[in-house]
Amino acid sequence: MTYAGAMSRTRNVAVVGATGAVGRETLRVLEQRGFPVGELRLFASARSAGSAVPFSGGQVPVRELACVVREFEGIDLALVSAGGAISKRVCPVIAAAGAVAIDKSSAFRMEPDVPLVVPEVNPEAARRRPRGIIANPNCATIQIVVAVAPLHRAARIRRMVVSTYQSASGAGEAGRAELEADSRAFLDGRPPVREKFARPLGFNCVPLIDKVLESGRTFEEQKTVDETHKILEDDSIQVAPLTVRVPVMVGHAAALFLEFERPMDPDKAWAILCQAPGVVVVDEPSVGKVPTPRDAAGTDAVTVGRIHRDPTVEHGLVMWVAADNLRKGAATNGVQIAELVAREE
Ligand SMILES: NC(=O)c1ccc[n+]([C@@H]2O[C@H](COP(=O)([O-])OP(=O)(O)OC[C@H]3O[C@@H](n4cnc5c(N)ncnc54)[C@H](OP(=O)(O)O)[C@@H]3O)[C@@H](O)[C@H]2O)c1
Repeated sequence: MTYAGAMSRTRNVAVVGATGAVGRETLRVLEQRGFPVGELRLFASARSAGSAVPFSGGQVPVRELACVVREFEGIDLALVSAGGAISKRVCPVIAAAGAVAIDKSSAFRMEPDVPLVVPEVNPEAARRRPRGIIANPNCATIQIVVAVAPLHRAARIRRMVVSTYQSASGAGEAGRAELEADSRAFLDGRPPVREKFARPLGFNCVPLIDKVLESGRTFEEQKTVDETHKILEDDSIQVAPLTVRVPVMVGHAAALFLEFERPMDPDKAWAILCQAPGVVVVDEPSVGKVPTPRDAAGTDAVTVGRIHRDPTVEHGLVMWVAADNLRKGAATNGVQIAELVAREE
């Protein structure tokens, strides 16, 4: 699903957090998908004011965000990725200026009057936005729902056990830099470098992302549960998540153990997933063809493989998904939402 050919009128676009991992990817995706950008206004913190970011063969200046209506006047769509605290302040300001805010943070995702949209799964939800805000789901949740939604529609998922393998870039530019620094320190025999992650990430796996809730789950894990329910509009699916940070630069993966209400065998799942929007089946393990985050990085596909029966439950299926967290997990999903909004008129 690309914008090209859908309509010709340009849209004035703002990107808030334009210097960050997601913001820079957003600019690349806008270019690559041929989104008809008219004026482009870029915002970041005071640290970046006066710098410039490449776009469409030129350099676009970055302004310091003041969070006032005036700076969004004349803007049609604003893609926001500057952290939850900034989102809470700036999205209502963007809406007050008459633009649609597409927010990548968790600030508004579970608000009942803010749609949570994955264009391959629930595009119609984007139209119901009384507050002028559309939320982009969590990066791990997006790839999971793209893969399971068509299977859920076919045979209804009763229970889903999810273990995620999430890359350092899920914690932004600083996360990526910390993995590199800590890996070098480990190889050189120097003390660990750790600030963003709960434990040093180089040559390690850290099963602790975000704060721990009273339930024993982390906030990241709770997001997987709540957002899956909201996007699939089905609170009855039992979701049991464990989220793990792994020493990968870009690309998240997840192992999914699915229990269906009705029969679902690997052949049927294969056939459904081969037709599913946004999904690429990579599943020839005998010749080493399996999805990996490294292969998915730089692409917009949710790659799915290792599809096989789980004989421990009735109608059980195991599969593995991998996708680029900065693209389909954030930037591409946001631009696809912008395309949906732009096509409305
Ligand atoms: N990384 C992912 O895979 C991913 C996926 C989905 C959603 N998200 C969400 O997207 C958001 C950004 O993530 P990221 O990975 O791009 O982080 P990042 O690399 O740390 O970038 C943060 C961006 O926010 C800007 N910023 C920080 N404080 C600001 C302020 N006070 N005013 C204006 N701009 C400010 C930064 O500007 P400076 O450069 O000037 O500091 C930078 O452009 C977060 O809400 C995150 O949860 C991330």
